Amino acid sequence: MTTLRAVIDLDVEGPQISKHLYGHFAEHLGRCIYGGFYVGEDSEIPNEGGIRLDVVEALRALNIPNLRWPGGCFADEYHWMDGIGPKEDRPRMVNTHWGDVEENNHFGTHEFMALCELLGADPYVNGNVGSGTVKEMSDWVEYLTRDGDSPMARLRRENGREEPWNVPFWGIGNEPWGCGGSMSAEHYAEEARRYATYCRNHGDNTLYRIAAGASNDDYHWTEQLMKALNCLGCQHDPKNIFQAITFHYYTVPGEWKEKGSATDFDADEYYATMVKAQRVDELIAGHSAVMDCYDPRKKVGLILDEWGTWFDVEPGTNPGFLYQQNTMRDALVASLHFDIFHGHAERLVMANIAQTVNVLQAMILTDESTGDLVLTPTYHVFEMNKGHQDATSLAVHLLGEDGEIEVDGARLRRVSSSASVSGDTALVSLSNLHLTEPTDVTLDLRGRAVTEAAARVLAPSDPAAHNVPGQASAVSPRELEVGPVVDGHLTVTLPPHSFATVSLELSAG
Ligand code: AHR
Repeated sequence: MTTLRAVIDLDVEGPQISKHLYGHFAEHLGRCIYGGFYVGEDSEIPNEGGIRLDVVEALRALNIPNLRWPGGCFADEYHWMDGIGPKEDRPRMVNTHWGDVEENNHFGTHEFMALCELLGADPYVNGNVGSGTVKEMSDWVEYLTRDGDSPMARLRRENGREEPWNVPFWGIGNEPWGCGGSMSAEHYAEEARRYATYCRNHGDNTLYRIAAGASNDDYHWTEQLMKALNCLGCQHDPKNIFQAITFHYYTVPGEWKEKGSATDFDADEYYATMVKAQRVDELIAGHSAVMDCYDPRKKVGLILDEWGTWFDVEPGTNPGFLYQQNTMRDALVASLHFDIFHGHAERLVMANIAQTVNVLQAMILTDESTGDLVLTPTYHVFEMNKGHQDATSLAVHLLGEDGEIEVDGARLRRVSSSASVSGDTALVSLSNLHLTEPTDVTLDLRGRAVTEAAARVLAPSDPAAHNVPGQASAVSPRELEVGPVVDGHLTVTLPPHSFATVSLELSAG
C-alpha cells in the first residue's frame, strides 16, 4: 500500500482562509430559483414568502457566507425594476440564455434579500452592464442601500421595506467577453471604471465592487483590468474604483459539445476530470502573477465566482436548464478545489460554486412536484470542510514515493490535502484521488501537542455513487478510524476515491 507522510507545522500560520471561498451562486436558470429556492407562497411545500424552508435549513448547516444573484448570463438581461412591487403587476420577459422560457419576475430584489436573511448569507448582487445603463445600476444600489429621503429609498419603502439593506458585494456585469456584451478587454475595462464610479456608498454601506473577469487562462483580460485600476498609482488611495477582479473556470471532462455524462464515466473520464479540476491551481497562479505585477501588496482581490463541474444534462431534461446529477467524482472535484483555494488564500478572496440548487454542480437537488430534496456528495464536502472558513491556513507538505499519478502525460496528485487552525482546533482535509487503490497517510504534526483526533470520510465503493430520493444517504459521511497519536504521528487509511477530514484538538497554544 502506498504510504505518504503529511508534514504539518501547527504553529507556522499562513494567511487566513476567507469564509467567502465557500460562496454560492444562484441564477435565474432552469430550476435553481423557480422550483429550487422559490416555490411560491401558494405551494404546499413549507415556505416563507415562497422560499422553500427545507432548502434554507440544509444550506444554513453549511454556514454559506454569500450568495451571488441573479446571474451569470441572466444578470446582463435582467432589469431589476421589473422585479419589484406587486407580483401580479410585474412585467414578464423571455430568459433567452436559459431555455427560452418566460420569466415572471416573481423572484426579485425583495425576495432575494429575504432569502439572504433566512440563510444568514451576505448578498452579492450582480448588476447589468450588457443591456443595462449606468443609471439603472446606480439606482439599484440606491434602492437597496440608501437610508433617508431619496427617490429610490422612497420607492423601496412604498414596496414595504423601511430600512435599507446591507449589500457588501457588487458585481459589474458578467462575462462581458461573451454573454455579457461581447466586449473586448480594453472596452470593458473602461466600462467597468465608469459603472463602478456610480455605484455609490450610501450611508454605512460600503460596496466591494467586483469587475467581471476572464475566462480560464485569458491573462490579457486580467492585465487590462489591472491597468484600468492604475494600481501602482492607487495603492495608497483606498478609493480605487473596483476592489476585485473575477475569473471563471469550469471542469469539463470532454469538449463543450460533448462534455461527458455526469454518472456514466470510465476510469479515463474520471482521471481526465481530476486533471481538469487540478488545473485551477495553474489558473489562479497565472492570474495572481499578472496582478502581482500591478499590485504587489495584494490589495485587489481575485475572485473565482463561477466554478464546478459541467457535464451533459441529465437525459430527458431541458438542455437549457443545465440539470445534472452529482456523484462522488463531483465531491472530489470540490475537495480538490478547496485545497487549491486554501493554498492561494492571500490573493483569492472569494469563490462561488455554480450553482447551489438544481443547476450544474449543485449542493441540493429538489423535485417541486413531489417535494423531495436530496443533498449531493458535493454538499457533504462543503459541510465537512466548513471548519476552514475564516481559519488560518497551515501548509501541508506531502512526502513519499508514488505521490503522483500519471494521466496521459499529465501529473495528478495522488492525495490532495490542506489544513487550517482556529484557536485550539485544527482541521486537515485529505482526498485520495486514486480511483482504485487506498492510500495510507501519516500526519506528522509538529509545533503543538495533539490531545484528541477524530475523522470522517466520504467513501462510497462506486465513484459514480449518488444520492436520490429513497436512497438519499448513498453518499454520506461516516466515522473513519484513526490510529492513536504517537509522538505527533497519526495514520489514516483513505479508501480509493475518498474524501476525509481529520479534526484535531490541540493543547493550548
Ligand atoms: O453558470 C452557468 C453560466 O455559465 C453562467 O450564466 C455564465 O456566467 C457561465 O457561462
